[in-house]
Order: sequence, then C-alpha cells, then structure tokens
Amino acid sequence: MLVSSKELFKVARKNKFAIPAANFVDQNSIKAYISVAEKLNLPIILSYAEAHKDVLSFDEALVLGKYYGEKAKVPVVLHLDHGTTKELIMRAIDEGFKSVMLDDSMDSFEDNVKNTKEIVEYAHLRGVVVEAEIGHVGNGEGYKSNDDSDSIYTTVEEAKKFAKLTNVDSLAISIGTAHGAYKGKPVIDFDRLKEIRDAIDTPLVLHGGSSTGDINLGRCATEGISKINIYTDLVTAAFNKAQTTKSNDYYELRNAQTEGMKECLEHYYGVFQTKRFNDEVKK
Ligand code: 13P
Repeated sequence: MLVSSKELFKVARKNKFAIPAANFVDQNSIKAYISVAEKLNLPIILSYAEAHKDVLSFDEALVLGKYYGEKAKVPVVLHLDHGTTKELIMRAIDEGFKSVMLDDSMDSFEDNVKNTKEIVEYAHLRGVVVEAEIGHVGNGEGYKSNDDSDSIYTTVEEAKKFAKLTNVDSLAISIGTAHGAYKGKPVIDFDRLKEIRDAIDTPLVLHGGSSTGDINLGRCATEGISKINIYTDLVTAAFNKAQTTKSNDYYELRNAQTEGMKECLEHYYGVFQTKRFNDEVKK
C-alpha cells in the first residue's frame, strides 16, 4: 500500500531506527526492493531521483512506483529524491508521489527557506510531505577527509532556524557522508547529530549511505536519523553478483543482479534496526 512517511518517521524517531530509502532505476530494482520489504514485513521508501531521468523517465517512474507500491503488502512511500525544479516537484505532488525532496542546498540559506516554504505550502494542501536539505552532502569522489570534501556541514543554528521558518516535514543534514563511493574514509560527526536531534523535532535524513560503513550507519539510525538513502551499494552489489555468475544467459545474469540487490538491502535493514518498527506495531 502507498502511504505517507509522516507517521513512519514518528515511529522511527521514537523507537530509534531508520527506514531505508532505496533509489530505483527500473522495474527490476523496484520489484527487488519490494520483495525484500515484504519478506521482512517492513516499510520501504522507494526513491526516484530526478538525476536518473535518462535511465528512467519521470513518467515511467510514476507508473512503476504507483503500480508496485499500491500492490505491495507493506507500507511503501513513493518519494521524489533531489528534485531541483518547481515544475517537476509540483507534478510529482499532483500525480501521486507521497513525498518530495526539494534540493536547494547549493542556494543561499534565504533562498532555500523561501523555495522550501513555497513547496511545503503547496504539498501540505495536497497531503504530501516535503524533505529539504541544509548544509550540503557532496560527492564521494571529492571526499578526501572530513576536513577536505565538497560537503558543507549543517549547523545546529541553521537547522533550528530552517525548521521553524519552513515547517518542512523532514530535514536532510550533512554530518560527514558523501554520495557514491568515498576516496577517503568517512568520519561522521555524531556530536553534531545529537545536537541537531536534540534541538529540533523534525525527522532527520541521511544522504550518501553507501560505503559509509555498518558501524557508522547503525549509530546514525539509533542516534537520531529516521531515513537513510542508499543507492551506489545496491547497484554495486547487483554488478558484483552478476560478475560471479559464470553464465552467459540473459535471465540468469538478470536474476543474479536482482539477488545481489536483495541481499544488500536486507543487510541494510539489519544495520538500520528497522525491525523495531514491528515492535511498535505489536504494542
Ligand atoms: P549513495 O549512492 O551514496 O548511497 O547515496 C544515495 C543518496 O543519497 C540518494 O539521495
């Protein structure tokens, strides 16, 4: 069933776990993610990133996301990841996404506030929730160390001000992760995470989950992050599994890729402690 992330994040924050947000790029990946979520009987956030439009158009993502999301036996949030234009974000809100992200993190704080407010007002009237980003999660390629990356760390003051001014539903913060594989070793600022979590009630989101390390991600999930985005590790797992398959058969290679993705996502459900969701449901 397709749901909003509003209630899911409340449960996640209270029970100290995170929900995986997996980026889908085709029908295979969407089916793989839902099958893992159904096997574990846990919610899943299906993320469609605007940046993937060359491999999967917005229209295709909408049809696939709605079809498989509605059919699923577990709560599924259809989410627009890193939306950059108002036109696309408003279309996503109007046409069936339950959650949208406006990524204005490279704009000035004032413009980020102004644009986020506008989207929040539009989305809330239509029952859709909004994620924004302050600070900036950069690229793993540009990451040499936490002192030398293209990321801009989120400050507590900015997080407080931004949450108050925008009424945004969830906030992506920058505390040491980067998108894609890292050149260096990620160092997460857990003190900053704690300070931000204690300062605002808004659920917090972590981008750039891949290759951050299980210990780091496990701590993020139990110390205040409610949603963790994963993409690179899922496609890498699919590729690696296909590489180990000696077959030349199209279907066997495709199945191997699917298996690789499923194993990776199941692993992260464990790392993120998402099973605590069912403890809450049983109460
Ligand atoms: P990774 O590819 O590093 O897992 O990042 C995914 C992400 O943050 C999507 O928004």
